[in-house]
Amino acid sequence: MNKTVSMPLDVVIMAAGKGTRMKSTLPKVLHRLGGKPLLEHVIDAAAQLNARSAVVITGHASKVVQSAINSIAFKAINTPVKAVFDAYKSINSVLQEPQLGTGHAVQQTVPVLPDDGMVLVLSGDVPLTQVDTLRALIETSGGDKLALLTIDFDNPAGYGRVVRSNDAGRGAVQAIVEQKDANDAQKLIKEVYSGIMAVPAKLLKGWLTRLDNKNAQGEYYLTDIVKFAVADGLLVVAHKIDDAAQVAGVNSPVQLAELERVYQLRQAKTLMEQGVRLADPARFDLRGSLTCGQDVEIDINCIFSGQVNLGNGVKVGAHCVISNAVIADGAVIHPFTHIEGEKLGVSVGAGALIGPFARLRPGATLGKEVHIGNFVEVKNATLADGAKANHLAYLGDATVGERVNFGAGSITANYDGANKHRTVIESDVHVGSNCVLVAPVTIGAGGTVGGGSTITKSTPAGALSVARGKQVSMTNWQRPKKTAK
Ligand code: UD1
Ligand code: CA
Repeated sequence: MNKTVSMPLDVVIMAAGKGTRMKSTLPKVLHRLGGKPLLEHVIDAAAQLNARSAVVITGHASKVVQSAINSIAFKAINTPVKAVFDAYKSINSVLQEPQLGTGHAVQQTVPVLPDDGMVLVLSGDVPLTQVDTLRALIETSGGDKLALLTIDFDNPAGYGRVVRSNDAGRGAVQAIVEQKDANDAQKLIKEVYSGIMAVPAKLLKGWLTRLDNKNAQGEYYLTDIVKFAVADGLLVVAHKIDDAAQVAGVNSPVQLAELERVYQLRQAKTLMEQGVRLADPARFDLRGSLTCGQDVEIDINCIFSGQVNLGNGVKVGAHCVISNAVIADGAVIHPFTHIEGEKLGVSVGAGALIGPFARLRPGATLGKEVHIGNFVEVKNATLADGAKANHLAYLGDATVGERVNFGAGSITANYDGANKHRTVIESDVHVGSNCVLVAPVTIGAGGTVGGGSTITKSTPAGALSVARGKQVSMTNWQRPKKTAK
């Protein structure tokens, strides 16, 4: 067994920076990518690495960041689909005030870092590092060496350069030299430090005490520990990758949007590898989790969020927004449909036809082969198998029986201005057009409600119920004539 595998992992996440270039009141690490804060991506990576603990270094807007950390941990622990890793349970934050550099930042974590672990240093604004890459970095460190994640950049300006012992660029790592401290020869080095390292806590803690700020920026550089390792006669190793997105930080809205596309394409590819047919992976957005059965087809510009399950053969038309919903086998969601389950969820039965332009709200529970057509809103309502509301209707706080047909323009009036009440429509009822069913009210099985009725009292089974002005026709009526001026 590998040495590193047996060593506990503690993750340090740097998140004290201001993020000035975001030009936002929201701290940078709380901006969302794929629907979740940047910082949550990093914490999730720590969790997937099975870290024993994570510590976030906060500074700017530390209160806001700390409360976000609490809710990220709370959410993770209370989401059944997420394994409860120790990292979520043992997440600390430390305050770095003022911010005197990355070395100073990591110094703040010393009191909460155990001595017997491997420390992985990450940044809260670098969301797309793959867990496999981090695992490989830890392996490279072997449990006893300082390991740096590095990458070659054609334009390395701004980054710390990895100085090696010979010019071929393959010798042992000697130092990291920051852009502002680099000489002309060093500026030509293309290999840069990504900002991510793995280092045994014992060594790290010793080196942190030796940092100073005698450099071009007057900062305490974490990267100076490389010099100390070399001076101590220890080997510094590098794990070099070539996928720039994995080490890309978010500093501006432009960079955030760029990484969003990278992230979405990754997710789209994963789904397509599972057999999901996306009309265009570049026009697909998943801001949560999506599980799909076989032969699922998703047209362009759909947005999924929360937890969405699509059964076998489900088709989702263009421009649908679907959140927290379970859609059973063979259901078809026509274009421009909005499904928002929130906490109660939405469920759509097998073979149902929804939309175009339908709106399903929390608690919409639709049976098999239900049809919900254009401009129909369903909220907190159960529709049994085969029920239909094909046009321009509202079903709220209702229990609708099998095979009910709910006419165009009809609504359940569920709210009396103070309280909400339920409407029960028993099986095989036919509700005509433009009816108002004033809850609480029950429409008896097999009954018919005449078009234009306002129903305020429950109706007997099988009856035709009509509640509207009687039709009168005056045969001797004269239309007024225009008077001469
Ligand atoms: C750092 C590295 C550089 C590397 C680059 C990769 C140092 C000295 N340099 O440079 O070699 O190529 O990252 O992006 O480490 N932070 C704090 N407290 C501070 C300063 C920074 O928490 O006092 C946080 C920032 O919020 C950020 C991270 O540390 O998340 C990196 O800081 P940043 O200022 O971007 O470092 P660079 O100068 O870019
Ligand atoms: Ca940076």
